[in-house]
Parts: sequence; structure tokens; C-alpha cells
Amino acid sequence: GENVAITELARLMGIKANEIVKKLFEMGVMANINQSIDAETAQLLGAEYDIEVVVKVVTEDDLIPKYEDKPEDLKPRPPIVTVMGHVDHGKTSLLDKIRRTKIAEKEAGGITQHIGAYEVDLPQGKLVFLDTPGHEAFTTLRARGAQVTDIVILVVAADDGVMPQTKEAIDHSKAAGVPIVVAINKIDKPNANPEHVKSQLAELGIIPEEWGGSHQFQEVSAKTGQGIDELLERVLLEAEMLELKANPKRPAECVVIEAKLDKHRGAVATVIVQNGTLKKGDVFVVGAQYGKVRSMFNFIGRTVKEAGPSIPVELMGFSEVPEAGEKLIVLPNEKLAKQIADMRKEKKREKEMLEKSKVSLTDIFSKI
Ligand code: GTP
Ligand code: MG
Repeated sequence: GENVAITELARLMGIKANEIVKKLFEMGVMANINQSIDAETAQLLGAEYDIEVVVKVVTEDDLIPKYEDKPEDLKPRPPIVTVMGHVDHGKTSLLDKIRRTKIAEKEAGGITQHIGAYEVDLPQGKLVFLDTPGHEAFTTLRARGAQVTDIVILVVAADDGVMPQTKEAIDHSKAAGVPIVVAINKIDKPNANPEHVKSQLAELGIIPEEWGGSHQFQEVSAKTGQGIDELLERVLLEAEMLELKANPKRPAECVVIEAKLDKHRGAVATVIVQNGTLKKGDVFVVGAQYGKVRSMFNFIGRTVKEAGPSIPVELMGFSEVPEAGEKLIVLPNEKLAKQIADMRKEKKREKEMLEKSKVSLTDIFSKI
């Protein structure tokens, strides 16, 4: 059960701790001032003083400050767009083409440290893109994409048509309730058959607007650049309907997109800010660790001091490598961050112990 520290109980009851120890002794409970007693004993003790003791487990939810966003603080934020599709259908090429034609600024210092996330500034506004690796697309996205993506660009090669991972991407987007914009790619190829792709997708419920459906389709070529402006316009149109907003004034809430152990820099992670503004020096908790933002880099590897809603940044300041998909929450001080990290560690430990005891039980049974 849950335990209560005698000193804490004494403070709450307004009775000296010595006095409580004495009373416990009278009740037949041997305890010293630095110990804890269980909830039931605490209740019995309370009854001796006509005080009702209610033991409540403090969860991290009780500790993490809640912010009520004032309507006037909610500002439009850029849409986060994830590119998904079957292996080799041209997801990365499409993003490269968008990057090369739309990003004026070049990567810093020749060292390519860019993250799998790009910001693209258009006259109509900013877009944030996330690439997904081919084979891993489905599993990795389940962990990290679903929580962060506003719109999916489904890339289908016009010469190959709908393939298993195309279907997976559709299922995944549907499950997450994320709108899909279809990019029929490789339209430059002589054997491209976009009409065939449309009918294949229609069978799966992804019906083009021109056929009376609700999905936007765009024929593109990542090779020639054909149709890319139109694709971006369609994505912006889709984004407009979502009316995406966030409060840049509040402490940041982020999601880890990817993380690794860098030989020189230690644990680094790419996070995307979902709400609030992440600042250098911010104290945070992620998984069962707490840390402090030591340095931050934008998508082209430049140092930044802060990052607002939807913005991807690479961070340093972890004690261990966080996991993709984990939430990173900024807290008002280190003490609280440590407290929450400790609670999570304890929970993790308890869970592991439980798992272990389960294993040993099965072992026992299997031996009988
Ligand atoms: P994974 O990340 O492995 O899933 O692949 P991907 O979807 O990112 O495909 P990628 O961009 O790596 O392209 C695969 C191949 O298709 C490359 O050889 C590209 O050059 C080629 N390709 C991509 N887009 C086009 C296109 O529009 N036209 C032509 N002709 N080739 C393309
Ligand atoms: Mg790729």
C-alpha cells in the first residue's frame, strides 16, 4: 500500500512528530521520526485525534502545472506534414526537390547535420515537413508520427501503383484521423499511369475530388519539379481548413522525433514543439529523465535560442538518449523535474519487478 512520512503527517495534522511517535507506540506501532507508516495506520492514528486522514496517491498529473490558454494567446501555427508511402516511390526525392527549390538558406558550415525535418517558407506561410524512412515507415510513424502530424502526403509512384506500404500508410492516417493529400509521383516516366493509381486508391476509399470524393490529388514529378507548386498549394488549402493554433507564450510541450548517441556531442534528439515555446536553459522531463536545454539547432544546423509551435529542433542536454515518440515537457524548476523523473523511474522499476515476478511464476509452472 501507500506510505506516509511521519514528519509530513505531523505537519499536516499540526501535531509534533515526537507526539505522533509516542501515540503510535501506545497503539503498538514501533516507528521512529524518520520513518513512514502505511495508510491504514495513518487513518487509525488520525482517529485518535478526531482527524480524518485521507491518503491520496500523488501522481505526476497533480504536480505538472496546468495552463489555461487564453483565446487571445492562441496563434496560428505552421502545419506539420508527413510524407508517407511505399518504398522507392519518391518520398525523399520529393522533399529534396521542395527543399532545393524553396529553401533559400543553405545548410550551415558544410556539415550536414540537418534533421529529418524541414521548414519551408512560402508566400502563403510556413510548412514543416517530416520524411519517413522506407522500410521502417509504418512502425516508426506509429511511435512518433501519429502524435505530431497534421497532414499526410501520400506518395504513390505512377508507374508502380498502390503497394502494401501505401495501404499501411492509409490505414495509419485514417486511424490517426489525419487528412491525406495524394501525390502521384514519377509522372515524367513513360509508363506512368495516374488514372490507374486513382482507381486503385478510390477502391480504398481515397476518392479524388474530381470524382466527387473529398481527397486532393496532385500529379507530380520529383525529377522535373512538375506539379510541386500545385501540391504545396493543396497542402496549404488542407491546412487552412484545420485552423491550426497554439499558444507560443506557454512553456513548451514537445515530442521526440528521433534520438541518438553522438560520439562527440552525447545524447541528442530531434524534437518538434507541439505547443508553447522551447527556450535555451529550459528544464524538462522526458521519459524517466530530466534535463536542461543546453543548446538547440534548427533544421539547417544553426544555433537558435528558442523554437515556437510546430518547429523542429535538435537538442542537447540529456543524461541519456530519449526514445522516439516520448513527450518532452518543460517544467518551472529542476526540483519538480527531478521529482517527476523519480516518480517515473520508480514506476518503471515497479513494472520491471512485476514483469520479472511473472516470468518466474511461469518458470515455476512450466517446471511442475
Ligand atoms: P524510401 O525512403 O526507401 O522508402 O524511398 P523513397 O520513397 O524516399 O524514394 P526515393 O526518393 O529514394 O526515390 C527512389 C528512386 O526513385 C530514386 O532512384 C529516385 O531518383 C527515383 N525517383 C523519385 N522520384 C522520381 C520521379 O518523379 N521521376 C523519376 N523518373 N524518378 C524518380
Ligand atoms: Mg526516402
